[in-house]
Amino acid sequence: MKQARIIGTGHYVPENVVKNADLEKLMDTNDAWIQERTGIKERRHIVPGGEDTTSTMGAKAARMAIQNAGIAVDDIDFIVFATLSPDYYFPGPGVMLQQQLGFREEIGALDVRNQCSGFIYSLSIADQFIKTGMYKTVLVVGSEVHSGGLDMTTRGRGVSVIFGDGAGAVVMQATEEQGRGVLSTHLHSEGQHAEELALIAPATTDWIPNYIERNDPEDIRYYPYMNGNFVFKNAVMRFQQVIGEALTANAYSADQIDMLIPHQANLRISQFIQKQMNLPDDRVFNNIQRYGNTTAASIPLALSEAVQEGKVKEGDLICLAAFGSGFTWASALIRW
Ligand code: UT7
Repeated sequence: MKQARIIGTGHYVPENVVKNADLEKLMDTNDAWIQERTGIKERRHIVPGGEDTTSTMGAKAARMAIQNAGIAVDDIDFIVFATLSPDYYFPGPGVMLQQQLGFREEIGALDVRNQCSGFIYSLSIADQFIKTGMYKTVLVVGSEVHSGGLDMTTRGRGVSVIFGDGAGAVVMQATEEQGRGVLSTHLHSEGQHAEELALIAPATTDWIPNYIERNDPEDIRYYPYMNGNFVFKNAVMRFQQVIGEALTANAYSADQIDMLIPHQANLRISQFIQKQMNLPDDRVFNNIQRYGNTTAASIPLALSEAVQEGKVKEGDLICLAAFGSGFTWASALIRW
């Protein structure tokens, strides 16, 4: 059976840097609280009305991944695009990416809605298509524009200081080499906690005309909600479980991981997992300090930077893991 390898990585973040001190001007928060509770120093926000959108940022990350893979756009057979913040309610950004990258062929484009786990779910989909031989080369993109939808007042501070905008992408390709590339992926969900981290409206049960008619600025269902403590406790538990599952499935132990790239939800979560797994600092990659939580973009963005910095080398055992809204959680083990 064929294996799927990542042959190119790329990322893009908007130029506009929003420091914790900038948020102090908008809401009752402070740099010390944000750094102590989350590790975040700054994040990127798009400039409203500018050229950056979820799809255009995804396209920029994709172009870098395609270039690093040393292939042409038209070598790609299929697109998988993960986001919770699409340009439009529908269609999803996959088709926009197909248009923006200038494909000659009318290749398929799939949109994935699994929030913070979206990239690993997408990687898993690409892996299955490649393993079965349906596609040879698949582009997987994660991109988010959170900034436009956050409640930038004190009311929303528990969420809005955490999230940032950005994009990451990988090119995956079939290889005959066994034991190389994606070794396994592990996907989970627990829908009973759907409302613990969610953006409820607009919903098909309460559609836009009702919203316009009510015109109620206190209707916070139009902003993301997170039960922070509850999400934190579940994240810590599920991260450990799903990483353990990936290791067991491949008969590896934690000390054999060369690089763990966790979804960048909170530096404290990453550090807790690192401690539990007894991993040294140089085997866990974090960049939440500079970008905040970029949801589906966070893992490919971190992976791309880790590759760029020479921290991921050929033959390394790489572990990706994510937890987030749904709840959904996932892991992937990759022999680079
Ligand atoms: O990516 C998806 C997965 N996401 C996660 O895994 C995130 C999980 N949760 C978290 O990262 C943390 O729970 C948060 C960073 C969201 C919050 O940290 P916490 O240590 O759980 O703080 P808390 O919610 O318990 O709030 C502590 C205090 C509260 O004040 P009182 O009630 O103690 O007076 C909050 O009102 O901090 C207050 N607070 C803030 N203060 C300053 C909440 N947000 C802020 C803020 N600035 N931005």
